[in-house]
Amino acid sequence: MKTNPVPSPQPSAPRHRARAALSALLLACLLSLPACSGADNAGDTQSERDAAEQKARQATQRLVSTLMGEVQTHIKEQGLAGTVTHCSSRAQELSTLIGVEEGVEIRRVTEKTRNPVDAPDAFERRVLARFADLAEKGEIEPATAHVEVVKQDGREVLRFLKPITVMKNCLGCHGTPEQIPQDVQQALREQYPNDLATGYAVGDLRGAVSVIVPLGE
Ligand code: HEC
Repeated sequence: MKTNPVPSPQPSAPRHRARAALSALLLACLLSLPACSGADNAGDTQSERDAAEQKARQATQRLVSTLMGEVQTHIKEQGLAGTVTHCSSRAQELSTLIGVEEGVEIRRVTEKTRNPVDAPDAFERRVLARFADLAEKGEIEPATAHVEVVKQDGREVLRFLKPITVMKNCLGCHGTPEQIPQDVQQALREQYPNDLATGYAVGDLRGAVSVIVPLGE
């Protein structure tokens, strides 16, 4: 039986290999290949991504807590129907404001829109489908999020999405027709003639907060 000859160990082999690797790296650097910047910049890139993710989380937290707080106060003062009117300009305005202040793009997205400007792009649609699967299995947790670095319009961005699920106090405006008071239904019809955002139950996926953070700036 023939076997391939086993090379006899050469004491100088590791050093040769090391030298060859070094030359390759030098060549890569001379040619400005990515391998050259790899080793040293990997740390920077990682910390840049971590910082971007941190930014996205902070903006999300701000948007969610501010909106929730304002909605709650408004409901107390003006009731549900009065809050519908308030929500329609305020939710968008607040997203823009927080986005500018935090240096990100932030908005809420959903497959079943109340405000048509909240329709998802292809990327968001894919993530929403994943979140919907998780919600169906009851597996959305406070920490559930999607983080991915993608190239978009020729630049690298970090995309961050956090699911929004339906709670009991959402049903007066997003539940079944029996759960939504008449005056709220009326206000919704007037403000949102193409409203798709009703018929939800507690635990359903309602949508997501979607953040885009530019990288390499
Ligand atoms: C007082 C009524 C009211 C309540 C209560 C309410 N919403 Fe809404 N919701 C609205 C209105 C009005 C809009 C459209 C806002 C806009 O024009 O940007 C909206 C939009 C949204 C959107 C953006 C997507 C879309 O359909 O345009 C999400 C996500 C959302 N609501 C989630 C919730 C959740 C979760 C709760 C409970 C914690 C909740 N809402 C409670 C009235 C309400």
